[in-house]
Amino acid sequence: MAENIKTIGVLTSGGDAPGMNAAIRAVVRVGAHHGLKVMGIKRGYSGLIKGDIKEMRPRDVSNTLQRGGTILQTARCPEFKNEEVIQRGVEMAKIFDIEGLVVIGGDGSFRGAAGLCKAGLPTIALPGTIDNDIGCSEYTIGYDTCLNTIKSAVDNIKDTTESHERCSVIEVMGRSAGFLALDVGIACGADVILVPEINWSFTDDVLKPILHSKANGEKRFIVIVAEGVGGVVEMAKKIEEKTGIESRATILGHVQRGGSPSVRDRVTASEMGSLAVELLIAGKQNRIVCMKDNKIIDVDIKEGLAMQKTLSEQHVSLAKKLSYK
Ligand code: ADP
Ligand code: F6P
Repeated sequence: MAENIKTIGVLTSGGDAPGMNAAIRAVVRVGAHHGLKVMGIKRGYSGLIKGDIKEMRPRDVSNTLQRGGTILQTARCPEFKNEEVIQRGVEMAKIFDIEGLVVIGGDGSFRGAAGLCKAGLPTIALPGTIDNDIGCSEYTIGYDTCLNTIKSAVDNIKDTTESHERCSVIEVMGRSAGFLALDVGIACGADVILVPEINWSFTDDVLKPILHSKANGEKRFIVIVAEGVGGVVEMAKKIEEKTGIESRATILGHVQRGGSPSVRDRVTASEMGSLAVELLIAGKQNRIVCMKDNKIIDVDIKEGLAMQKTLSEQHVSLAKKLSYK
């Protein structure tokens, strides 16, 4: 037990995600509720090693719940893979009396968190990424908001695609994972969904379904492509060439990462931030806060990092059935 822990820190690292502010707010407010001083660390691990650290009081996080991005800013800090740099981070934390740290980010950030624990700074990690690609967690902060942002964008594209009787090939984010593409594909009625986890061929999985729908009278076509598959510009050209259907490519890009977080992201982030603080108070460290069977739990960082998450087979099969027309 670390009953006498007095000061904790919080940082966001890697790509930002809507709901990170709700997690920061929960750390600050739940920390204050338990009598802790909470220090906000700017720009992820870069700010930690530079000492870019300032106290955050409960009022400092007022009016942040509805804001996308992260009020602490985020950064990628490649040198943090070096043990000496991690050690510098631990020493800087000591200078600011930080006895425990909450890191909000993706699996890269979790490796940094594990390094900090090993070097002597108790750390708890929270999954914050739009990609939903954390093996040990059913859900990551930002995923729901991002899905809804993509849904609105694809719905808009569908309107103009229908008016012009075209085919739209749309690339969505997700790094090397296809969770966003698959769920959005189902939600937006895509004719074709391509994800990096599943082998596909242009003839069987793109051309055939489009030609089949065209033969049945369909006049607008939506192809959702995960960024891990890529090549949307070339694919649109090839579709036009082989089918005669005028085609356009859209890479949605960073519009997908912003925006006011959904209720699901705000509530999940609040629950996760709260548990992180309570784990530190209980003297726990080296844990990832995650979701299992819809409950917020914690697992060992190393074990969590080794876990794999696969696309839902039901969703894959459902998407196929729904696109048949
Ligand atoms: P994410 O956390 O979203 O997966 P990154 O993979 O870019 O994003 O990682 C974010 C940051 O975490 C990196 O810039 C680096 O500071 C830190 N990090 C990544 N991998 C490691 C590692 N193996 N050891 C220590 N720190 C790491
Ligand atoms: O991990 C979140 C994410 O948005 C990925 O979907 C994407 O591949 C990557 O980050 C983009 O990173 P950056 O903002 O550095 O271009």
